Amino acid sequence: MAKIVRGSEGVGQAIELLAAGKLVAIPTETVYGLAADATNGEAVASIYEAKGRPRFNPLIVHVADMKMASDIAIFDSLSRKLAAAFWPGPLTIVLPLRLGHPIHALVSAGLDTVGLRMPDGLAHEVIARLDRPLAAPSANASGRISPTTAQAVEADLGERIPLVLDGGATPVGVESTIVKVESGTVRLLRPGGVAAEDIEAVIDMPLARGATGKVEAPGMLASHYAPTANVRLNVSALMPGEALLAFGSFAVAGSPLATRNLSSSGDLREAAANLFAYLAELDASGAKSIAVMPVPDHGLGEAINDRLSRAAAPRDKPTAPE
Ligand code: TXA
Ligand code: MG
Repeated sequence: MAKIVRGSEGVGQAIELLAAGKLVAIPTETVYGLAADATNGEAVASIYEAKGRPRFNPLIVHVADMKMASDIAIFDSLSRKLAAAFWPGPLTIVLPLRLGHPIHALVSAGLDTVGLRMPDGLAHEVIARLDRPLAAPSANASGRISPTTAQAVEADLGERIPLVLDGGATPVGVESTIVKVESGTVRLLRPGGVAAEDIEAVIDMPLARGATGKVEAPGMLASHYAPTANVRLNVSALMPGEALLAFGSFAVAGSPLATRNLSSSGDLREAAANLFAYLAELDASGAKSIAVMPVPDHGLGEAINDRLSRAAAPRDKPTAPE
């Protein structure tokens, strides 16, 4: 059972747990979010674990002010205008990540963009006082509806998290609107708490919708997260010139060009936290092929294997949406 705590006592406990890499459900103006320190890979991995998500969808990063936002992402003038008009509030803006940004790769699921928003209410207070960005999807188990009360979070995820910060019923009740600036136009990626008309009034032009927006839906392309090198799965023996992505303590036959071990102790949370960085590092080794040892398919292993099979898929082949 999670503790449900209100007010300043709850905020204090939330900050302590988040700073220690734990999960806390926090109220935003839209829905309750399942929050973790966005700079801590294992904390972020435990979000996916608690939600039971079979895939690593990119998560929204929540910030307290424009300084924190600008350390993470690069704002063009339209995005800046949108932030000025709607933050704090239920608008998420997808932006290019800045070089040297502090966000863990698992948050953006290996993309070079990030969804950023500045929430209102107790969530805002927690982020400002913690002074770290928080990654937070809606605080429901995968496939369930988004919770708008602390009791709904407790009923769904109570066994899996230590604390629900209770801020009462969330005023907006639906998720944030998601937009992205693309060559001078603004594309609506998800309708939500800010009406499209209100955005159009601020930018003084119609929102782009549909067609190419589909490509933005993560996971639409089988090879969306593919490295340049070929990826070979469930390998027990290396071919000449291959790099090795290992898991656990078993050895494989052959001598790799470069090696990374997702988790030598076989810890799936550690493996999830290392996945995107290690794929990128092995890709940068110049090997033509990355051989991947088998990863067990339970718990976080399912999402790890989903991502690995996308990386190994024939390039740019469309698959079913998430
Ligand atoms: O109101 C909300 O947005 C709530 C509260 C907790 O902030 N959060 C929420 O998160 O709804 P979640 O994880 O349930 O939905 C996040 C959405 C997903 O559809 C994801 O694909 C999209 O944001 N997203 C995140 N980063 C993205 C990116 N870099 N590019 C495109 N879409 C992105
Ligand atoms: Mg959700």
